[in-house]
Amino acid sequence: MSRFGIRAKLKTALGLGGGGGPRVDERVPVTFVTPDGKTTEVLSELRYTLVMASQTLDAPIATGCPDGHCGHCVVDVLDATGLGEPSPAEAKLLAEKPEKGIRLACHARVVGPGAKIKVREVWSMESVKGT
Ligand code: FES
Repeated sequence: MSRFGIRAKLKTALGLGGGGGPRVDERVPVTFVTPDGKTTEVLSELRYTLVMASQTLDAPIATGCPDGHCGHCVVDVLDATGLGEPSPAEAKLLAEKPEKGIRLACHARVVGPGAKIKVREVWSMESVKGT
């Protein structure tokens, strides 16, 4: 054991074993329903955002900003199982919207299996015009 047990604490904090927590490199299923009605299950690494998890779809979720303020990546949550709680920044942005059951795909993180997400818009040249 390292002095003060720092190595074990770091491994546990990073989910690399030692504490029985999830492994960082573990992949879990996330289901996406895209605007064309197609349902696709992808394997996402834990702690990926939904935008990152959607990279293996035919086209990923459309985004509109680099710093999480535009709201362009809104998705409908059909099953929130496996999604982490909104960060304070995401919660603040969601509070400004009248709709319920939505998340910002650039903020929402995968923390376990089972999420089912309805994508409103996938990336295309049209989706980035004017951003
Ligand atoms: S891409 Fe702008 S808030 Fe998500």
